[in-house]
Amino acid sequence: MTETKQITLHRPDDWHVHLRDGQMMQAVLPFTAKQFGRAIVMPNLADPVATSQQAVAYRERIYATLPEGVKFEPLMTAYLTDNTDAKDLAAGFKHGVFCAAKLYPAGATTNSASGVTDIEKLSAVLECMEDIGMPLLVHGEVTDPDIDLFDREHVFIDRVMKPTLNRHQGLKVVFEHITTSAAVDFVRSQGPRIGATITAHHLMINRTDIFKGGIRPHLYCLPVAKREQHRLALREAATSGESQFFLGTDTAPHAISAKEAACGCAGIFTAPAAVELYAQVFDEEHALDKFEAFASLNGPKFYGLAPNAETITLIREAWVVPDSVAVGDGTLVLPFKAGETLNWRLSD
Ligand code: NCD
Ligand code: ZN
Repeated sequence: MTETKQITLHRPDDWHVHLRDGQMMQAVLPFTAKQFGRAIVMPNLADPVATSQQAVAYRERIYATLPEGVKFEPLMTAYLTDNTDAKDLAAGFKHGVFCAAKLYPAGATTNSASGVTDIEKLSAVLECMEDIGMPLLVHGEVTDPDIDLFDREHVFIDRVMKPTLNRHQGLKVVFEHITTSAAVDFVRSQGPRIGATITAHHLMINRTDIFKGGIRPHLYCLPVAKREQHRLALREAATSGESQFFLGTDTAPHAISAKEAACGCAGIFTAPAAVELYAQVFDEEHALDKFEAFASLNGPKFYGLAPNAETITLIREAWVVPDSVAVGDGTLVLPFKAGETLNWRLSD
């Protein structure tokens, strides 16, 4: 069999990205905008994007930060809180400000302190979303301190996901950044109204990698990587071509000083090599023929959008991921696989 030298596909979208704000956004946005046509922008800024007015302002800041001549569409999300106003949410959705709403269980991850304390309190909001066809994006981890960190996604399925889907039979849900075989099985069992994003790093590392030769703060994210059997289940799901699974990097940049600390932040910065990292995984799995479905078709289909009209080409060619990315304020961010060689490169 001859080796595939290059592949061309509809331009992909990133269905889960943290663009941050200010100088950090200036440093990281060009990477995402260069590769992806659109991205679902996470609302967990230090001051969360909770209202349509805040989303309009944030979207303007993103457009103002885009490099000249780059065509990229940010798809905004609403940060749900115990006090979310269903009317504002629905109006934002109707007017194309919001594409979806994000559920962070309070305390589950970075900037989630104002998240939802009890999903049952959101019943009226979820009913409204169900009526208007607005997708709910879920950070699927319980926050109960008695539940082992590595079990928090699995427990979330039984305690929160199942009852919520039962109460709201018409609600469209994305189970974000899944990390377990239980989540893969669950998503499959629910049919097309539920989708799942899968990150490149969860396809590449398992929990042992986080402790390889010492503690590796740059491999720490939430949900934390799980055992090898789970990584393999994620690889199987992503490369299956099934329409419920799609690309979402969860690229989550933090200054190196915030990661290499006594209490380091969660988040892995994959944006500088996102498409190439995924291409490598699909190549390793002999599934390059399924890459376009995962990266460019399944996500738009779930969200009721057309795939991007333009295409991108990836070439089998070695290149080295940058050692670091400089932020204007003098801090540095470390990309996933910094200094390592990848064998697929996005053609200019
Ligand atoms: C994200 C961040 O830093 O905003 N961190 C992460 O580990 N993924 C938050 C999130 O998506 O959970
Ligand atoms: Zn995220």
